[in-house]
Amino acid sequence: MLKKKMMKALNEQINAEMYSSYLYLSMESYFQSVSLAGFAAWMRGQVQEELMHSMKFYDFVNERGGRVTLDTINKPETSWKSPLMAFEHILRHEQMVTELINDLVDLAIREKDHATNIFLQWFVTEQVEEEASVGEIVDKLKLIKDNSSGLFLLDAEMSKRVFTLPQPE
Ligand code: FEO
Repeated sequence: MLKKKMMKALNEQINAEMYSSYLYLSMESYFQSVSLAGFAAWMRGQVQEELMHSMKFYDFVNERGGRVTLDTINKPETSWKSPLMAFEHILRHEQMVTELINDLVDLAIREKDHATNIFLQWFVTEQVEEEASVGEIVDKLKLIKDNSSGLFLLDAEMSKRVFTLPQPE
């Protein structure tokens, strides 16, 4: 059975993951508006991934006999000055999510909630991957600067991302 404090924090994380999905959907729309279809497709994968994260927390709270209570999802920003600024925003956002996950792990340890701690380890690893993949794109965009040929090449590369829903364990 989940303790109240842990349940509240996990509910907040459901909201944070939903917000991530909403923010990335807003970015997808931005990339569509500037005709960068590959970046937009990459963002769609990100939208689905964040929804999947949110549902992982949702299912875990229920599995542990807790109660999910949904809250308001904040309004995301709607435009960015450049693809680089959008991706720098994603990187800052993911670093913030990493802190949230670390705080949840700290709480699980304090509460001696070993099951939640084990559940959270998947997210600890996931955040390392997320920060690395976004950081790589930020670096490429910095190299590209104002070179439109480079941007179109990267756009084509980004379109190759395929998101597959993980199979039930
Ligand atoms: Fe759900 Fe991008 O962390």
